[in-house]
Amino acid sequence: MKEKQDLGSLRKSYEKGGLSDREKTQNPMNLFARWFTEAEATPAIEEANAMSLVTQGLDGYPKARVVLLKHYDTEGFVFYTNYESEKGQAITADSRVGISFFWPALERQVIIKGIAEKITSAASDAYFDSRPLGSRLGALASPQSQVIESRSVLEDNLNILKGKHKENDPNRPNNWGGYLVRPHEIEFWQGRPNRLHDRLRFGLSSDKQWTAQRLAP
Ligand SMILES: Cc1cc2nc3c(=O)[nH]c(=O)nc-3n(C[C@H](O)[C@H](O)[C@H](O)COP(=O)(O)O)c2cc1C
Repeated sequence: MKEKQDLGSLRKSYEKGGLSDREKTQNPMNLFARWFTEAEATPAIEEANAMSLVTQGLDGYPKARVVLLKHYDTEGFVFYTNYESEKGQAITADSRVGISFFWPALERQVIIKGIAEKITSAASDAYFDSRPLGSRLGALASPQSQVIESRSVLEDNLNILKGKHKENDPNRPNNWGGYLVRPHEIEFWQGRPNRLHDRLRFGLSSDKQWTAQRLAP
């Protein structure tokens, strides 16, 4: 590798769309639904539901990692994970999280701030039971975020579980399930020419009304 990678000349003009002031009057979850549907329908976007989840770590550092959005509605955004993972422990200590989506082919970004809470056991059970057997056993086999000696630890765990569950389906482990992120701020970013991008930031007031402001790019 060269000593210094100069990326200063990588430059792109954004001209795929805009956000008019008219959008400020709508519920941001409706705008999210529209953007998400468009992202899903865009062949160049492979995993429209991949989102960066940021937590405040126990070591004091924010940490971002990608998780998959599995459900959204007016309540918020749901993803599934191991509750004892690094992110799970971080959320237990501080439930304020950030989420961001970047859909490059549409020149769009969505940034969300919200509070994460565990969904009900029944809802986690229902989703766990809907997953393919391999994914269910994988969730059981992996002590997510823990240090392991080698890959064979995972493969051995999986083989033992495969033997154990030849006849009966595995139950969802207590340490695995969903989180609902209830948003209180949602920002939409649409790339525009000459770096004069559109940004609309929606905030939820204490009486549960969304209001929007335009931000300078
Ligand atoms: C495309 C993609 C999708 C992922 N989806 C999930 C997911 O839905 N849930 C999950 O726990 N980890 C998922 N991961 C793995 C996480 O990024 C991360 O490695 C893992 O959750 C452990 O994070 P933590 O140690 O910070 O808790 C995904 C990774 C990628 C690249």
